[in-house]
Amino acid sequence: MLLRDRHVLLTGATGTIGSALAAALAGRGARLSLVARGEEALHGLAHRTGGVAVPGDLTLADTPASVLAAAEAALGPVDVVLHNAGVEVLDELADVDLEAVRQAVLLNLVAPLVLTRLALPSMLRRGRGHVVAVSSLAGVATFPGLAVYGASKAGLTHAMAGLRAELRGTPLRVTTAELGPVDSPMMGRIGTHPPTAAAFARALRLHVLRTLDPEEAASAVVTAVERDRPHVRRPRRAAPLAAVAGAPRTLVRAVLTGIPTATAARAVDDGQGLRR
Ligand SMILES: NC(=O)c1ccc[n+]([C@@H]2O[C@H](COP(=O)([O-])OP(=O)(O)OC[C@H]3O[C@@H](n4cnc5c(N)ncnc54)[C@H](OP(=O)(O)O)[C@@H]3O)[C@@H](O)[C@H]2O)c1
Repeated sequence: MLLRDRHVLLTGATGTIGSALAAALAGRGARLSLVARGEEALHGLAHRTGGVAVPGDLTLADTPASVLAAAEAALGPVDVVLHNAGVEVLDELADVDLEAVRQAVLLNLVAPLVLTRLALPSMLRRGRGHVVAVSSLAGVATFPGLAVYGASKAGLTHAMAGLRAELRGTPLRVTTAELGPVDSPMMGRIGTHPPTAAAFARALRLHVLRTLDPEEAASAVVTAVERDRPHVRRPRRAAPLAAVAGAPRTLVRAVLTGIPTATAARAVDDGQGLRR
């Protein structure tokens, strides 16, 4: 989807990758609704990017609906939902804080599912929409200390594959970004947990991974949306791993080609969903 004048609802907008995404999207002429909890940072970012600050804690049950309503009230129907808010949980499952488990699954998986569910009817009615999820290579190959985080990201990647299958035959698009380590405070925190840090150090030493700049990651995601790509995987050297892990989903998608989906059938019945 070309992004000029499109309304993009971006979650996790004030974070390392989120603020790079906001800058890249603003550079393409998108109109931005920016979601995070910290209001001061959010208002500063809104000022810099010409966007609208929509504060909210996405782990709370009512927030996906309230941020969507506030975004639509400010800028009209949402064209792109970009799920970027996420939190790592850094501990072995035997020791991990129970509340941290709950919060990570709520933010990384439940909130994107609920927000997507709420945004889709309007997108289908208007025959235009793009759902984007910032997932992680930790959802492909998980490291020690990242079992909870990896599980939430694997769930997010899988959910986007299911949504893509449901939207076949409609003009709506889904992009999943599977990113490796990005130069960020999140990776700094991961570096403080010895087993996880050692695993990343080895992967970097063996050149299986390399650390991405936030701007490079954001630019890859935005370009993938503009080109309607289903996947963006960075660093490129790790892309084959993600493609192999996603192979069963790709295979099933190919098998299902030609089988109408309920969502596409409903869009055709409404006489609207197949408009570009
Ligand atoms: N950093 C990496 O190496 C890396 C690699 C692969 C994938 N990713 C994924 O990329 C995304 C962004 O990562 P990042 O490093 O940029 O993270 P970050 O700097 O920690 O930013 C997280 C963003 O989410 C917001 N947020 C946190 N908790 C929230 C909540 N409960 N409700 C609403 N917003 C909340 C934060 O703002 P507030 O705290 O003000 O709410 C912030 O804007 C995440 O999904 C992450 O899993 C990161």
